Amino acid sequence: MIAAKNILITTCCFIMFAARCYCLEFEYHSNEELEQVLRNFSTQTDDAGAVKTELYSIGKTYKGTELWVFELTATDDETLGIPNVKLVGNMHGNEPVGREILLHLIEYLLDNYNKNETITWLLNNTRLHILPSLNPDGFAEATEGLCRGNNGRFVRVDPESAIPEDLIDLNRNFPDPFYHSNLTFDITESTCLMKWMENKTFSLSAALHGGELVANYPYDSSTHAADGLPSRTPDDDVFQYLAKIYASNHPNMKGCSNLTNFTDGITNGAEWYSFERGMGDYNYAYHGCMELTFEISCCKYPKAKELPRYWNENLKPLLLFIMQSNTGVTGQIYDYLSNKPIAKARVMVAQRNVTFWSSWNGEYWRILLPGEYTLKVEADGYHSSTKHFTVSEQKGPYPSLTILDVPMYNSTVFTTTSTSPSPTATSPRWTVAATFSGYQINAQNPPVHKSLPGVHSHYSSSSISYKIYVHFYTVLYFLLVLHCVI
Ligand SMILES: *[C@@H]1O[C@H](CO)[C@@H](O)[C@H](O)[C@H]1NC(C)=O
Ligand SMILES: *[C@@H]1O[C@H](CO)[C@@H](O)[C@H](O)[C@H]1NC(C)=O
Ligand SMILES: *[C@@H]1O[C@H](CO)[C@@H](O)[C@H](O)[C@H]1NC(C)=O
Ligand SMILES: *[C@@H]1O[C@H](CO)[C@@H](O)[C@H](O)[C@H]1NC(C)=O
Ligand SMILES: *[C@@H]1O[C@H](CO)[C@@H](O)[C@H](O)[C@H]1NC(C)=O
Ligand SMILES: *[C@@H]1O[C@H](CO)[C@@H](O)[C@H](O)[C@H]1NC(C)=O
Ligand SMILES: *[C@@H]1O[C@H](CO)[C@@H](O)[C@H](O)[C@H]1NC(C)=O
Ligand SMILES: *[C@@H]1O[C@H](CO)[C@@H](O)[C@H](O)[C@H]1NC(C)=O
Ligand SMILES: *[C@@H]1O[C@H](CO)[C@@H](O)[C@H](O)[C@H]1NC(C)=O
Ligand SMILES: [Zn+2]
Repeated sequence: MIAAKNILITTCCFIMFAARCYCLEFEYHSNEELEQVLRNFSTQTDDAGAVKTELYSIGKTYKGTELWVFELTATDDETLGIPNVKLVGNMHGNEPVGREILLHLIEYLLDNYNKNETITWLLNNTRLHILPSLNPDGFAEATEGLCRGNNGRFVRVDPESAIPEDLIDLNRNFPDPFYHSNLTFDITESTCLMKWMENKTFSLSAALHGGELVANYPYDSSTHAADGLPSRTPDDDVFQYLAKIYASNHPNMKGCSNLTNFTDGITNGAEWYSFERGMGDYNYAYHGCMELTFEISCCKYPKAKELPRYWNENLKPLLLFIMQSNTGVTGQIYDYLSNKPIAKARVMVAQRNVTFWSSWNGEYWRILLPGEYTLKVEADGYHSSTKHFTVSEQKGPYPSLTILDVPMYNSTVFTTTSTSPSPTATSPRWTVAATFSGYQINAQNPPVHKSLPGVHSHYSSSSISYKIYVHFYTVLYFLLVLHCVI
């Protein structure tokens, strides 16, 4: 019997994948198996060798289970403007459908690069970081087939620790945008996730949950929690759009009971039910990462034989969701004199009262719908910079990011004249400070041309007057440096 099954599987695999035979089964993988599956994936490459994979851990639970992340992309490390997207499963240990779907997604992406144009494009234009399980220890306690309840949902706390509770809900254990003083506990799973986000700049994220069928977007926390009204972010248009991308491409996202009324299969978190210290709010408010919570199964822990159905329902929504990381604007923020990238610059879009931050490499991303926008960048020791740009309608099958690099002018070296235009002007006027002598500058300061993806970009920021000023002062530096040398 077993032999017959094996022959069948081998034949099936052979027919389906000819050269490469893998075939992940639709079953729940234990934590040990999950690690093995990911290790197996990391040894695979596509025929062209273009997909780069990396298996890394963001830390260990107190029981010693690694929190594995599988990264995959077909881009180079050097290419700028490629958004980091993360997908997180199994944050609640007894909601493991997402955990298995994410394993299948990795397999699907590896198998289809260079075979399917959509997948090729996706890996050409994103860096994906997949964390199948944020709560592996909770998963190990949960029971297959149990649709309700909290058995395995929480993280069990080290009895030796000073934490006063023994069971922590990870989705109630992050800093909150509205209640800064509220307690969060030093739980490995939360702190590892926070460190991960400090280390990498993600622009888009999904957390996969179970127990409902709805695409839930921030905020969950609310300053008016009791009234059941939405608690909207300044990017509500973008969040609703992202939620609809998922829900409208899912055949079944309509809520699980006739008591819930999720229009279009989406809901604002607080409008559904408000809670504090959730992971989605933390992603957005503390890291400028747009995270949505997708509730993808009415039963929290359905029998494994149901998994193919969930996989089929969620594949297209997931791919389209990831693709949206390529809408909006990206660029690099750098020091005009040294050309060095500026990390942790504050990036704001007019009419949206929220601050995002540039990455260690000066890159930033803002997912935005088509329209005209004004970007304002601030960094310590620099004059702030304001630029206008356009996000245009998607042409063709794939979105593309508007590219807007932002040079920043050292406020010690440059001083604005008293007649400088108001802060809304595109091209600030600059004069060279008297304290200039002895400062080492690169007089040849080359124009910055970074290789960025995307076929077209709309860069309406640099007006002619701005260019003239920049060139004028480049020449002026050159003369000054020459003067100093002589
Ligand atoms: C990993 O790959 C090895 C060798 O191909 C295979 O024997 C094993 O079953 C795989 N493990 C899992 C968990 O898929
Ligand atoms: C490529 O993959 C997408 C997403 O799974 C699918 O919708 C599409 O049909 C595939 N295209 C081909 C040519 O197989
Ligand atoms: C993906 O990138 C490869 C290598 O740069 C390129 O040859 C190919 O045309 C790209 N395909 C798509 C669909 O973007
Ligand atoms: C958080 O702080 C707010 C305001 O101080 C308070 O109303 C709320 O009950 C607190 N929540 C928790 C979980 O402590
Ligand atoms: C992220 O972590 C890696 C590996 O520990 C380290 O080399 C890198 O400098 C870190 N980057 C940032 C921005 O913290
Ligand atoms: C809601 O569903 C329950 C059970 O599925 C059914 O008995 C009830 O009549 C429904 N209520 C409405 C208003 O449709
Ligand atoms: C659901 O909400 C929509 C919009 O708020 C409303 O038009 C509709 O009547 C509601 N349906 C039910 C069954 O409550
Ligand atoms: C912007 O948001 C902050 C909190 O994030 C708030 O304190 C401030 O009042 C807001 N400003 C405006 C103009 O809405
Ligand atoms: C600006 O220039 C001054 C003078 O050379 C230098 O000391 C300072 O570090 C620079 N500031 C930044 C933020 O690079
Ligand atoms: Zn959950």
